[in-house]
Amino acid sequence: MTNISLDPPSTATDVVLSVEDLSVSFPTEDGLVKAVRGVSYTLRRGETLGIVGESGSGKSVTSLALMGLLPKSARITGSAKFRGEELLGKNDREMSKVRGKHLAMIFQDPLTSLNPVYPIGKQIAEAVLVHHEVSKRTAWDRAVELLRIVGIPHAEQRVNNYPHEMSGGMRQRVVIAIAMANNPEVMIADEPTTALDVTVQAQVLEALEAARTEIGAALVLITHDLGVIAGHADRICVMYAGKLVESGTVDDIFYRPRMPYALGLLGSLPRVDEGRDARLTPIVGTPPSLLNLPPGCPFRPRCPLAQDICGEEEPELLPIAHGHSAACHFSSQLESASATDVFAVTSVDVDTDLVDVASTELATDVDTVSEEGA
Ligand SMILES: Nc1ncnc2c1ncn2[C@@H]1O[C@H](COP(=O)(O)OP(=O)(O)O)[C@@H](O)[C@H]1O
Ligand SMILES: [Mg+2]
Repeated sequence: MTNISLDPPSTATDVVLSVEDLSVSFPTEDGLVKAVRGVSYTLRRGETLGIVGESGSGKSVTSLALMGLLPKSARITGSAKFRGEELLGKNDREMSKVRGKHLAMIFQDPLTSLNPVYPIGKQIAEAVLVHHEVSKRTAWDRAVELLRIVGIPHAEQRVNNYPHEMSGGMRQRVVIAIAMANNPEVMIADEPTTALDVTVQAQVLEALEAARTEIGAALVLITHDLGVIAGHADRICVMYAGKLVESGTVDDIFYRPRMPYALGLLGSLPRVDEGRDARLTPIVGTPPSLLNLPPGCPFRPRCPLAQDICGEEEPELLPIAHGHSAACHFSSQLESASATDVFAVTSVDVDTDLVDVASTELATDVDTVSEEGA
């Protein structure tokens, strides 16, 4: 687990990734889909930044843009710098020197990242060999070592396994091992545990943490589930309708949220510390279409606090306190609000059904293979 950093002073050399006013839109037959709208964030050396938001809020497109992995049709503006070097606009050949070596990405579904016809050891060793001139033997030994770091038991035997011989959780560890193969400075994990069983999720997050600590990389941890981020991030960015709507330390977001959507996410999270009597307050409604967004705050139709101004002007992401920003016309009134104050209380005790709704919103394709049966 990482230490929760209270917004340490950042120096220019500390910043490994800086994203500034990044926007991405896709021309479609129906019109322009504005998937990402002016996202800015910085990632400092060794820290974990959580990006959280419902499905369709632009989390993946933001990361794919800076990795150079979007389809050619995507219109990208703004800036994304790795250690001061602009990534946007690099061609495939230039990007392939950066990807894997300096910036590595881990996707939701390990099967799409692994080749079914090769043993995992060969795939990890190849990742090592792409960017380093070492012997095959050295690369293979490194593969075994990496498997050990991500917590795969009997690594020297498992290294010969094919992907289909492993459970989903074990496969995701292999993907993490590949991502860390070249000691990248930045790892971006996009919903790394969403396809996994809840018990396996925690183990994979531990593996990711072990990998990050081992190589001293900074991590962008993307998820729709605020609960996943709680014990693993230093800072959090909340995304809604293609924009950042709140950013701050974990404590800022969990204890002092100032944007109703962030409050709502917290309200729909089962809290162990509040016991069985705690009420869950789900956010009703669905996120807006990113095609022809109406003026005003995109959260307005779902916001219990909405006033006239919210339908007219989209609130900007503005600083409230040091390192803490929110985009809400009424953020100053939310100083000590709780989700139950703002959202209607459902007068039901926390029961398993509700917990399921809140915590597995996207859990399609659940991996039910237990780690013991791997
Ligand atoms: N290639 C594409 N063409 C058109 N729209 C896209 C494309 N890729 C993503 N989108 C749209 O961009 C929005 C953001 O998607 P995404 O970043 O994948 O969301 P998230 O990762 O937060 O679930 C969605 O509305 C999605 O439909
Ligand atoms: Mg996504």
